[in-house]
Amino acid sequence: PKLNVAVVSKVYPMRSHTISAEGGMAAVLREYDSLDSHAYDTIKGSDFLADQDAVEFFVKESPREAIRLEHWGCPFSRDPDGRISVRAFGGMSVKRTLFATDKIGFHLLHTLFQTSLKFSNIHRYDEWFVTSLLVDDGKVEGVAAIELRTGDLVTILAKAVVIATGGCGKIFQFTTNGWIKTGDGMALAYRAGVPLKDMEMVQYHPTLLPNTGILITEAARGEGGYLLNKDGERFLKRYVPGKMELGPRDIISRAEMTEISEGRAFEGPYGSYVHLDLTHLGEAVIEEKLPFVKELAERYVGIDPAHEPIPVRPGQHYQMGGVHTDMYGYTGLPGLYAAGEVACVSINGANRLGSNSLTECLVFGAAAGKAAAEYAQKQPAPSFGNPVQGLFMIEENRIYDQILKHEKGERISAIRTQMQQAMEKYVGIYRDENSLMEACRIVGELKKRVKNAVVEDKDRVFNTELVSALELEFMLDAAEAIAYSALHRRESRGTHSRIDYTKRDDLVFMKHTTAYKGPDGPRIEYSPVTITRWKPEERVY
Ligand code: FUM
Repeated sequence: PKLNVAVVSKVYPMRSHTISAEGGMAAVLREYDSLDSHAYDTIKGSDFLADQDAVEFFVKESPREAIRLEHWGCPFSRDPDGRISVRAFGGMSVKRTLFATDKIGFHLLHTLFQTSLKFSNIHRYDEWFVTSLLVDDGKVEGVAAIELRTGDLVTILAKAVVIATGGCGKIFQFTTNGWIKTGDGMALAYRAGVPLKDMEMVQYHPTLLPNTGILITEAARGEGGYLLNKDGERFLKRYVPGKMELGPRDIISRAEMTEISEGRAFEGPYGSYVHLDLTHLGEAVIEEKLPFVKELAERYVGIDPAHEPIPVRPGQHYQMGGVHTDMYGYTGLPGLYAAGEVACVSINGANRLGSNSLTECLVFGAAAGKAAAEYAQKQPAPSFGNPVQGLFMIEENRIYDQILKHEKGERISAIRTQMQQAMEKYVGIYRDENSLMEACRIVGELKKRVKNAVVEDKDRVFNTELVSALELEFMLDAAEAIAYSALHRRESRGTHSRIDYTKRDDLVFMKHTTAYKGPDGPRIEYSPVTITRWKPEERVY
């Protein structure tokens, strides 16, 4: 109760990207299910790159966190007997995904936000943009942040900092991610010397609307939807016969790419696509369980999914890699913790199972919060003396006297578009040595060019162009870590699919990649994977 907590967010908290989560959150709540089964599914889904001690901790804590959320008022969908409803999800052996129709993110975020309002010691800094961590004598002393309303750079001193900024999907051109997902927290930690772990593991979701990248939830397949090629064939029988539409995302995304490249997909104004067919589910099921899918299909494609199939294609969705942490969110830099998509514990390894990520936010958010609170209680109050003051002045100079001062140069959007195109083309679903070397080269060149980019809006008040410039530099740091980590992992595992190294190579690559920031690109090191009870095996479904 004595803690003073600041929640610093670049957007109003209810606009955080969790709001757009759709399908549900996994936890073992049913008598037919078991923690071991959830753990095994998660580890197999990860292609055996997950740390098994972390996965065991995760599955054990998941039911407790789900029930806590329920007690805080989360309006889950209910079975007639009153129990929270569960649905099937990709790669899970049984129905264990708790849902709130297909809008779990909206309800989860509301529940957390309204609960936070009850505590007078939680102070919100809405629309404050963190630009750097203040690190003094090897420990974090707070952050520098721009108050967007005034444009002032301000120091927020803190005994401990928990980063919970989500992923970096906007590095890619075609993604489910909103504009705010620019890898800020990853870059903040990376610049402070914390490694980014397994960044090559980028998840592609199989069902995005081709025109917008908007997600059509996996719940549509969990409720019985089919994926069809242009011949009307359920093509997954050739790729993942044991699971079909409930296979894991990496395999289904690759299957769609093969259908496209072998000419069995549809062609449209936004490229090639396959069909997600829900017509056999009937209007009642769609209305009751997938109302958001219906709304999205109507609004963005102009079709009623009860009567016509939805066009879909794969695209970037989630970053398995992130800021290295242990099971308690600790990054190894005293005072710095991270949780959620920004972090890599790792429970997701080379491929996350759908519906594990919201639960991950709850379980590891709680663990990181507790660890940070315990650490903070033992720390003296940080003061705005040197070198924190000096660091703040350096940051002020970087933003206002350099970035904002350039009168001429390239536009931010031109550099951002080139980065997105390069990442899409060279670090996509399939990669090889040449494509990854090209990605590293282009990102390196863009990092140099961004230093001379121009921010045309010189005003301080709500300067969104300045924010875009700072976000672009964050994205380029994350992009560099992704491209180099992918280049060095010369095998195929989970989502990381190398056409020049098509097999998983446990002898050499059963290890985590750790990318440390260096002057000319990252320094790549490796750390061991923790294996407890599940021996690596061939991953077949
Ligand atoms: O398809 C979905 O609803 C996504 C869920 C997830 O990424 O966990």
